[in-house]
Amino acid sequence: MMPSELPKDQGQISEDEGVAMEAHKQTLINGHDQCDSPTLEEDADINIDEIGEEYQHDPHCDPDNPIQVKFQDVSAAAYKIKSGVLRSPCSKSNLSGLVGMDLYLKKDYLQTTGSFKERGARNTLLMLPEEYKQRGVIAASAGNHALAMAYHGRQLGIPIFVVMPKIAPIMKVNRCKQHGATILIKGEDIGESKKLAMYLAKKRGYFYVNGYDHPHIISGQGTMGLEILEQVPDVDAVVCPVGGAGLIAGLALAIKSLNPSVQIIGVETDQTQSFTAALEAGRPTYFKVGPTLADGLAVPVVGVNSFATCHKLIDRMVTVTEDSIALAILRLIEIEKAVVEGAGATGLAAILSGHLPELAGKRVVVPMCGGNIDTTVLGRVLERGLAVDNRMIRFIVTVSDRPGGIAELTQKLLRLGVSIKDIFHERAFLKSAIFQVQVKCIVETTGEVHAERLHKMLQENYSTLIWGPEDM
Ligand SMILES: Cc1ncc(COP(=O)(O)O)c(C=O)c1O
Repeated sequence: MMPSELPKDQGQISEDEGVAMEAHKQTLINGHDQCDSPTLEEDADINIDEIGEEYQHDPHCDPDNPIQVKFQDVSAAAYKIKSGVLRSPCSKSNLSGLVGMDLYLKKDYLQTTGSFKERGARNTLLMLPEEYKQRGVIAASAGNHALAMAYHGRQLGIPIFVVMPKIAPIMKVNRCKQHGATILIKGEDIGESKKLAMYLAKKRGYFYVNGYDHPHIISGQGTMGLEILEQVPDVDAVVCPVGGAGLIAGLALAIKSLNPSVQIIGVETDQTQSFTAALEAGRPTYFKVGPTLADGLAVPVVGVNSFATCHKLIDRMVTVTEDSIALAILRLIEIEKAVVEGAGATGLAAILSGHLPELAGKRVVVPMCGGNIDTTVLGRVLERGLAVDNRMIRFIVTVSDRPGGIAELTQKLLRLGVSIKDIFHERAFLKSAIFQVQVKCIVETTGEVHAERLHKMLQENYSTLIWGPEDM
């Protein structure tokens, strides 16, 4: 089946919907949860394990009949979503000098709900068969897809239901409710939530939208590729995060159709290598994803349509570590003044960690796909980034318990220009010597060279030194 054969609609906004949009805008401005929505309470007791296989077939994402999205679908999507989705800036980055390339950042974290997911969500809602515009749409998501569906559903007057896993951040749950979506929090992970959402779609007659694999989602995401070519016409390469692969599929399709010489490089984390696994297997296959800062990329099986659309269009895949993502987030805040979530920072992480030396001196675009990072997580990530950057160091030394033991240590730190952030001293548990005390320090240095001087000084002066312990 061709995606363009799927039912379409133009999605005009009525007067009533205009009023609803205005009310919604006020909600956002006032920051109140004025439109707290009902929950799917009667479905809260369903045992997900008992849901049969017959409910797990999505006719739009059929492994036996994958759909290759076409360029025309992307250009049609660009026309449709133009009035409802931000054409985000794609500006030259202050990080260009640091990475030795002409770096451009496509800033989709500036979308109203903070991610590129609005492109596919709006396109899919506009293309929805008429009957579902009344009955509603259901999705399973821990974050960005849910927010995008909720927001554009409200704008277009389409009821939105979302099953969110228990691990979904409270901030995102509340935001979805504020956008008027009906939320059910159920499922240990996104796989379980998806199972339930598909069951409810069949039982209640909602339209189920896979957030990375529905053909209209893929063509919507592809609009980012069209914009990149308009904004940076002589681009040499695009370095794109990959989760379920909807974004890279649409983006690669759009860009390679217009300029096949542009390199498309996909980025995964070492915890989420589902696309690499699919390339090796020749088809989407299961990859056991682990915990990652890039939670948006944690999809165990990439989309069948996404894979069919783009597996021949991707020039290279790169894998990044958690540390490199933390460092990329830190660099973006400090140098670019941009708050970007883990998944959105993986493209930059690939460049910063030296995986793409062939791009030196080239014109490179990196999609900053999302900015929805919890404030508490952001604090921890920045600390981790500072540690990776050798600017925040933890160490434990054993000093004399006699008067002046700790003063001597702080004097030595002062002489090196090292700033103490935290210092604890611990006597009770130290077994080795009665007149010694363990001092745990968290200090700030200016970077690698300074940290190395500190390390040397401590080695020379203290017989017991634990450098950079994981826990303290
Ligand atoms: C911020 C962000 N970046 C990238 C991705 C990956 O997109 P896809 O699943 O289409 O590969 C996601 C997916 O949710 C995301 O939220």
